[in-house]
Amino acid sequence: MSTERILDVSPDADALADRAADWFVAELANRSGPLAVALSGGSTPKRLYERLARDPWRSALDFGRIHWFWGDERVVPADDPRRNTLMVETALLAHVPVSAANIHIIAASPITPEDAAAAYEVELKRFYGSDNLDPERPLFDIMLLGIGSDGHTASLFPGKPSLAIRDRWVVSSEPGLDPFVPRVTLTFPAIASSRAVAFLAAGADKKPILDKVFAGADLPSAHVTAAGPIHWFLDKAASGS
Ligand code: 6PG
Repeated sequence: MSTERILDVSPDADALADRAADWFVAELANRSGPLAVALSGGSTPKRLYERLARDPWRSALDFGRIHWFWGDERVVPADDPRRNTLMVETALLAHVPVSAANIHIIAASPITPEDAAAAYEVELKRFYGSDNLDPERPLFDIMLLGIGSDGHTASLFPGKPSLAIRDRWVVSSEPGLDPFVPRVTLTFPAIASSRAVAFLAAGADKKPILDKVFAGADLPSAHVTAAGPIHWFLDKAASGS
C-alpha cells in the first residue's frame, strides 16, 4: 500500500490538463488485457476528458480495451446536468470509438441511492472476477479524483459514516456540499485498489484545503491510499508556488 505523493505543478489549468493527459496515456501504455479507469466529476477533469477525445492523446489510447467507471455519481435523472456521467459523455465518450459494454455507469434515479450502490458493487465484482480485493491485483489501473473545498474526494465527505465503511466497495452517501443531491461513492478500500491515483485541482480557491491536506489534516482526501503513488496535478494558483 502506498501513500507516496508526487506533486506535478503546471502554470495554469490548461497546462495541467495537458500534463494529466500525457500521464494518463503513459500509465495505460505497455499493459496487456482489459484496462479499468475510474473517473471523477467536477470542473477540473473536464479539460482532461476533452483532451483524451482528441489527438495526440486519442490515437494513443486503445479504446477497445479501456473500461470506464465512475468514482462517484449524483443519483438524479440521467439527463440532469449534475450527472457526472453526462459530463464525461459530452466531453469524451460521445467522441471516441468506445462500445457500450465498456461504459459502466452508476444508475440514475428513480433508482434509490442504496440500490444504485448495491448494483454498482455487483458490476465491479463481476468485472474484477472476485468478491474479494487482492492487493496484488488492483481493480483499477487509474483512479482520477478531485478535492472539494471541504476536503472531500469522490463523494466521501468529512464526518460522514461512509468514511468508516471497509466491508463494501460502493455505498450511498449524503452530500456535505452543493449540489445537495443523493450520491453514490466508492469506499476507501475500493479506491485503494488502484495501480495509480491522480488528484486534479486547479484554481486559488483550492489552495487553503490543499495546504491542510499536505500538512496532514484529518480529511477524506488525505486518507486515500493506492497500490502505487498518488499524483497531484495542480496549477500554480492551487499550489501557491
Ligand atoms: C463530484 C466529484 C467531486 C469533485 C470535487 C472537486 O461528483 O462531486 O467527483 O469529488 O471531484 O468536488 O470538484 P471540482 O474539480 O469541480 O472542484
